Amino acid sequence: MTATRRAVAVLISGRGSNLRALIEAAKAPDYPARIALVVSNRADAEGLRLARDHGIETAVIPSKGKERAAFDAEVDALLRAKGIELVCLAGFMRILTPEFVAGWTGRMINIHPSLLPAFKGVNVHEQAIEAGVRISGCTVHFVIPELDDGPIILQAAVPVPPGATPARLADLVLEQEHRIYPQALRWLAEDRLQIDGRAVRIRGAAPASGALISSAL
Ligand code: GRF
Repeated sequence: MTATRRAVAVLISGRGSNLRALIEAAKAPDYPARIALVVSNRADAEGLRLARDHGIETAVIPSKGKERAAFDAEVDALLRAKGIELVCLAGFMRILTPEFVAGWTGRMINIHPSLLPAFKGVNVHEQAIEAGVRISGCTVHFVIPELDDGPIILQAAVPVPPGATPARLADLVLEQEHRIYPQALRWLAEDRLQIDGRAVRIRGAAPASGALISSAL
């Protein structure tokens, strides 16, 4: 299996707990992807150390003071030079240009800590609590030029405990993020995902149960 694993780049800006979940999942002998490269736009991203500790190649491409198109072109050139096939955004705090996104259509996914299409952007858990929702969660989706949008691959639902703070809700949701991101990447690397308009079909999975995981519902 090792020889055929798909080469994945993970793009980060910070802590890297989702990166860790992907690295751990990829240790399984039957996992169809390997984390070949970690790219950060910030030299102080904690996730870089984690990657290095695992012997994974890292690159820092500073974004500060750089034109968006120039930054994206640098990242794109690096990914292609390294033979990257699939891209995972994991806490990557940059909006990507439509040109960059177009070059990775169907091969780039993102994780977002809400049940999209609800609560996009930042301060997601504050938004959810403010809105009084009883259930929040997380989403893995294909990346399209619009922020936190794109065909949904997998979601996990998380009940919002009464009186929960944003930090508490973030912790609960993060636990589920770490479950669904490796699963979604597995399907992508196995070529089992078929984009059909706004929807994603998962070959070989029951339509409903395959695409929703609930933590405690
Ligand atoms: C996660 O909550 C992810 O959903 C969001 O940014 C956060 C990144 O956390 N896009 P980490 O760096 O993976 O720990």
